[in-house]
This record gives sequence, C-alpha cells and structure tokens, in this order.
Amino acid sequence: MAVLSVKPMFSVVVVTLSLILAVLLFSPSSPFYQSPLSLTLPARKLDIWSVGRMVEWRPCKWWLQGHLTALPSKSNGFIRVDCYGGLNQMRRDLCDGVGIARLLNATLVLPKFEVAAYWNESSGFADVFDVDYFIKRVNGFIRVVKDLPSEIASKEPFHVDCSKRKGQFDYIESVLPFLLEHHYISITPAMSQRRDRYPQYAKAALCQACYSALRLTKSLEKKASELLDAIPKPFLSLHLRFEPDMVAYSQCEYPYLSPPSIQAIKAAQGDRKPWTGELAQIWRKRGKCPLTPNETAFILQVLSIPTNTNIYLAAGDGLMEIEGLTSIYTSVVTKSSLISGEDFKSMHGNTKAALDYYVSINSDSYVATYFGNMDKMVAAMRAYNGLYKTLFLSRRAFAELTSQGLRGKELMHALWKAHKDDFVMGKGSALPDCFCEFKL
Ligand SMILES: *[C@@H]1O[C@H](CO)[C@@H](O)[C@H](O)[C@H]1NC(C)=O
Ligand SMILES: *[C@@H]1O[C@H](CO)[C@@H](O)[C@H](O)[C@H]1NC(C)=O
Ligand SMILES: *[C@@H]1O[C@H](CO)[C@@H](O)[C@H](O)[C@H]1NC(C)=O
Repeated sequence: MAVLSVKPMFSVVVVTLSLILAVLLFSPSSPFYQSPLSLTLPARKLDIWSVGRMVEWRPCKWWLQGHLTALPSKSNGFIRVDCYGGLNQMRRDLCDGVGIARLLNATLVLPKFEVAAYWNESSGFADVFDVDYFIKRVNGFIRVVKDLPSEIASKEPFHVDCSKRKGQFDYIESVLPFLLEHHYISITPAMSQRRDRYPQYAKAALCQACYSALRLTKSLEKKASELLDAIPKPFLSLHLRFEPDMVAYSQCEYPYLSPPSIQAIKAAQGDRKPWTGELAQIWRKRGKCPLTPNETAFILQVLSIPTNTNIYLAAGDGLMEIEGLTSIYTSVVTKSSLISGEDFKSMHGNTKAALDYYVSINSDSYVATYFGNMDKMVAAMRAYNGLYKTLFLSRRAFAELTSQGLRGKELMHALWKAHKDDFVMGKGSALPDCFCEFKL
C-alpha cells in the first residue's frame, strides 16, 4: 500500500478504481446499467435478454456433420419403440429408442405412439410427425422401414419392457438376446440405461432422429402456423404449470390459494398428501414446488420483462389462479382464445401439445416455470435453431430467498442476480448429450 502515499500514483489508482467501478456499474450485464439517455428519457432498465452471455449450447459437431460410421451390412432384427404419456414424453422415448436400435444394429420400425382411448383421430406417430421426412433425415444413421417383410408382418413383436427394470442396465446384455431370438421386438425405453457405453454412431443416430428429423405433419403444421400468425408480435411464450394435478403431484402446500383452487387440488390428490411443517420447508427449498402465476409474474418483473409484453400461454385451460399473472401482464393470449371453436373442439391432447410446442420453438422468447419434457425439448430445438432467449425460472432460488426472509427490493435484487447468472452461463437451458457448451 506504499504507493498510496505517493501523490501522483494515488490519483492514478483512484482514477483506475473509479473506471473499474464505472465499468462494473454501467456494463450491460449489470443490473444498475442504464443508458446515458435515461437521464433525459424515463428510466428503463434493460431486460434479462440484453445481458451478455458467456456460454451457449449448440448441437455438437460430431453428429451435426453427419454419420461417420457406415451401417453394418447385416441387421440383427426389427425394433419397434412403444411410447406412452404426453407428446414430449413419447418423443423423448422415441429418441432413446432410436439410439438403442442403432446400438443393437437393428432396423427401426415406425414407433407406436399411445393414443387415448376416447380419441378418434388415430394419432399414432404418423398423425403428429411427418413420416417420410423422418425416414429421409435419418438415412445413413439408422435403417428404418415403413412396412415389415411379409414373413414377420403377421406376428406381434415380442415385448421387452425396459421401463420396469430397476437400476442401471445395459441394452446389449439384456435386450440383444431377445432380438436375436425373436427377430422382431418392441421396447419401452428406460431412463436408467448405460448411455455412456454407447458408441458414437448410436448417439449420433439418437441426436439426428430427435433434433433434425422430426417435423409436424403438413396439416398439423398448417394449423400451428395459423395460430402463430394470430399471436401479436413480438411475443414471449410462457409455459406455466399450475394445474391441480401438477400441484397435487408436487406434494407442496399452498395455503394462500382461493377455496376453489384448494378444492381442485384436494380432488386431484388421491393418496398423495402434501408435506407439512419442516419437511414442507425442506421440500420447497429444494425447488420442488411449482411457481404460482402470481410468483411467476413477480419474477418476470424482476427480469425487467415489461408488463405490456405479448405473452402466449403455452398451457392447457386448467390453470389455477391465473389472475395472479393476468392482473399484471395484461396482454396474454391462449390457443383457445385464438383458434375458432369448432376447430379447437376437434383437437385433443397430442395435437394441442403439438401447437404449444410449435409456437414455443418459434417465439421470440421462451420462459418456463418448470423443467419438464416439453421444456427440455423446446429448449433443445430453440438452441438447434439458434434462438437463445430461453430461460427456466428458478423455483429453488425463489424458495430459498423467500425463506431467508428477503422481501421487496432485496428479494428482487437477489432474484435478478440468480437468474442473470444462469442466463450468462447458459445454465437456464443446459442441454445434455446432443448439445455442447460453446464459449462466446
Ligand atoms: C454392430 O456393428 C458393428 C460393426 O458395424 C460392430 O462393431 C458391433 O459390435 C455391432 N454391435 C452389435 C450389438 O451387434
Ligand atoms: C371416427 O372416425 C371415423 C373415420 O374418420 C368415422 O367414420 C367415425 O364415425 C368416427 N367415430 C366417432 C365416434 O366419431
Ligand atoms: C401476489 O401475492 C403477494 C403475496 O401474497 C400479494 O402481496 C400480491 O398482492 C399478489 N398479487 C396478485 C396480483 O395477486
């Protein structure tokens, strides 16, 4: 500190320090940043999207640049992937299934997508996704057939349900023997597979099939693009998950909701009772509790997203307490408000989910209050298309900070920092497997 006693040096230090301070305070990534214009114009803080990012996720080169390994000359048999659940869950299983089929040197049969019994549209895979495009795009990555050879076509495949297997297991050890014995099997993929053992050509097949080969059927895409056209621009697509079943499933307590919401949650609860007391606190702090529309509106304001932003609600009609959002963000549209009655009535779960998906991968920005299958798929497709205004709100940060007793300005500041750090590091949309971190 001897330099401080030397006068000229001292002023240099002061000037340098103030410069550093100025850079810190007024850099675009600082929450204190205001453009010099704000001295004359009404102050307007920069929104979260204006913050400089240091990292982004891009599709990895090793699969984007094509298939480097030739397909084996001989196929070990036929595999059909059986997919259940919501649209994006089925897609996730399909992606995994393609990787497995390639790993086993099998030929892929078009997947089976579960169709709800009440649903008259057949909505298998072919009702949602463009089959010919899929086959064309995975060419060279994996063999696919639309129709089975006649000697096999009459048989039902031997079913191997991997989703019921406990713990980590290996597909070559546990599934290949069935394939070799029966020649035609169907599989339900499991989450706990040993994907680290996959050769790169199997991973590449998965990535190519999942992110470069799936587009909606012509008729569905037409509907979806009409919907997209009807949304005021520019717009933010908001995936809000605050339906009774979701809240019941989360096992979180929400004592301050309106009586009708509390009733609806109770009705959806069944045997799954919410945590209470200290356990409820711990559960909440681990980020397990869905954000309410009110909390969501609060965080959006923290992110300086203007309250007159056009918002498309990518959600069903079962949202509770939506006034918590719409009383603050007043330009909110939904698909049921934009699609004419008859058209809308004829649509069911998967096609509606496909509309939300399509709008969300084409919106100017995407914010999710949850990290579910749809959010993962949307974030991946947005990254694939070079769209980076994508953010997952942090339930954990919100719960932790409020439980520390932070309120008002303090809470806003801390929440801004948590979300800004996520956005800068690309963490809000960390994508595994087929995507690689890219330093900007
Ligand atoms: C698949 O084929 C490759 C050669 O193309 C071979 O190295 C690999 O062992 C085969 N895997 C299985 C499970 O048959
Ligand atoms: C289901 O669709 C078929 C063919 O499109 C039609 O003939 C049939 O009447 C429909 N059934 C119901 C219950 O809507
Ligand atoms: C949101 O909740 C907070 C805290 O309970 C309350 O002060 C605020 O008025 C609510 N806002 C709306 C729009 O409901």
